[in-house]
Amino acid sequence: MRQLVYGEELVEQDVADPDPGPGEVVVTVRRAAVNPLDVWISRGTVAAAGPLPRTGGSEGSGVTADGRRVVFRGAGLGVMRDGTYAERVAVPAAALADIPAGVSDAQAAGVGIAGVTAMDVLDLAGVAPGMTVLVLGASGGVGTYAVQMARALGARVVAQTSSAAHLDHLRALADDVVVSIGDDLEAGLRDAQVSSVDVVLDPLGGPFGEPAARALGRGGSLVVFGASAGPRFSVFSTDFYRKGARIVGYGGLGTNASELSAKSVRVLEMIAGGTLQPVVAAELPLEQVNEAHARIVERRAGGKLLLVPTAA
Ligand SMILES: NC(=O)c1ccc[n+]([C@@H]2O[C@H](COP(=O)([O-])OP(=O)(O)OC[C@H]3O[C@@H](n4cnc5c(N)ncnc54)[C@H](OP(=O)(O)O)[C@@H]3O)[C@@H](O)[C@H]2O)c1
Repeated sequence: MRQLVYGEELVEQDVADPDPGPGEVVVTVRRAAVNPLDVWISRGTVAAAGPLPRTGGSEGSGVTADGRRVVFRGAGLGVMRDGTYAERVAVPAAALADIPAGVSDAQAAGVGIAGVTAMDVLDLAGVAPGMTVLVLGASGGVGTYAVQMARALGARVVAQTSSAAHLDHLRALADDVVVSIGDDLEAGLRDAQVSSVDVVLDPLGGPFGEPAARALGRGGSLVVFGASAGPRFSVFSTDFYRKGARIVGYGGLGTNASELSAKSVRVLEMIAGGTLQPVVAAELPLEQVNEAHARIVERRAGGKLLLVPTAA
């Protein structure tokens, strides 16, 4: 079997087929989804205590020996144990979720991280019909799910991008699009005449945190779930306490494999039911994993990037 292991860059090597432990199932990978987490781990910016060398990739879709089409995420895949950047992977049975008929392997591959995160942060913010939701980093894996889910919940969605290349695509997904020139979110909101929002979903942090807090209206929520633009920001307390607003973090941690699988099923049902159309930006051969990671770092992805093993 061929797999990609962590080195200074990810390198390809031939290895023996995975040997499943008790309660584990070997899955033939059809699509491995690429997430910023995989990039940060391979570059050493997120510590992961798993053994090295180790196969990267923290989620994907595939098929079991008895023909089940499944998605898989969690249980340490790619972080604590060999992951999904491979032709086959051993997965704890609890981390498998069945793909419904009518949903393709490519549509399903990214639901476990991007899809579930989008659903969770909207839940955490208590998004309800009539609210205005500002989605930062809206062109990304999580953002493209969050924009569609928030609209399906009856919210008005304002999507933010800093890339001209992502504008047309976001205009088709969201009610309004805000363009931040550089990091100036405040100017972008002003130009788009967005004065106050009920919810901000923030995967960026850094220079976006302060104007995001300021944009909140009475009782609003700023949900921070990433730090793509920087791990630190400061806010004027008056920008949120006088409005009874709140800033809340989402780590995606502390959820066990079966709970994660149940959440993946909820997202897959939205796709099967037609409320959600996953945005697959590109499908690359597994061997091009370093190109896929570069596209995330250079903000050239524009949706979910998937890797396709040769045998798929
Ligand atoms: N807490 C959790 O459990 C959890 C789960 C999933 C993801 N995350 C985090 O959430 C973030 C987004 O994930 P994703 O999968 O959506 O990533 P992604 O596909 O790379 O998308 C992020 C988007 O944010 C924008 N962006 C990236 N870097 C930026 C920067 N330095 N300054 C301004 N804008 C920037 C880009 O949009 P434009 O170029 O269009 O502006 C990009 O399309 C990541 O930091 C990830 O680690 C956290």
